[in-house]
Amino acid sequence: MRVTYRGHGGSDAYWGKRWAQIPADDGQLNLQRYPGKFAERVMQEVSGEVLEAGCGAGRVLLHYHRLRRPITGIDFIGTAIEKIQRLDPSVNARQADITQLPFEDQQFQGVLAFGLYHSLESGIEKAFQETRRVMQPDGILCASVRMDNIQNRLNDWLADKNAPPGTEKFFHKANFTPREFRALLRNAGFETTKVEFVENMPLLYKFKIFRHRAHKVFDEHRARGEGYQLSWFGNLLQKSLISVFPQSFCNIMVATARAI
Ligand SMILES: C[S@@+](CC[C@H](N)C(=O)[O-])C[C@H]1O[C@@H](n2cnc3c(N)ncnc32)[C@H](O)[C@@H]1O
Repeated sequence: MRVTYRGHGGSDAYWGKRWAQIPADDGQLNLQRYPGKFAERVMQEVSGEVLEAGCGAGRVLLHYHRLRRPITGIDFIGTAIEKIQRLDPSVNARQADITQLPFEDQQFQGVLAFGLYHSLESGIEKAFQETRRVMQPDGILCASVRMDNIQNRLNDWLADKNAPPGTEKFFHKANFTPREFRALLRNAGFETTKVEFVENMPLLYKFKIFRHRAHKVFDEHRARGEGYQLSWFGNLLQKSLISVFPQSFCNIMVATARAI
């Protein structure tokens, strides 16, 4: 596992600031792209209660709540939960940490956890054990983590290069190889059925020249709803890179796993 450090004050400061800056999501979820595509697959397979761990501003949670699916969201950032509840008080969302979940054993049939586990500076094994504890045997977990590959090493190099000299650095995210991710899941009592390599935020999106014209000025709220969209040329380049080197030019991997 490789760790990325940035100058933002640590994981809680980073997420706290991010969720303070944007409103709760409007429940719009693009089912053709990450994370909608992956969430939808799980939701098609399960009929029981689902937990969204690390629900953030609520795009996944609100979408399925509006479809009247039994879904509960947790996030360790209280501001994010308050914003979701202010928007829709009927949503089942609460502030909680993944390493200490306030739920019964085997309460959920499915767990969605997009971009959560790699935000933990410590206690990642405990986080997977807690996830397993609240799941029914044979339940499905769909989880994504940051990939340890060339793309993310380049991203980290660019961020370091652009940081003001002397910036104090804190834990940002952990990066995993597929083998490390599978081992964490296996050790917590999961059988991984699939690992997919996904470009949630393409490297080329960092450069304005490759972005879709509606995305030239960065708007996180828009990008979260629509996906990080590239121009036709950016798309062509990114698609070529990812089709030839899928593990090198994705930024995350998504595992689907069964609780055993
Ligand atoms: C990449 S965001 C994903 C948000 C949401 N799932 C989505 O796809 O829009 C990861 C989320 O995990 C939350 N998180 C990080 N560490 C956590 C922890 N220890 N316990 C609970 N949530 C945590 C962050 O606050 C953030 O909202």
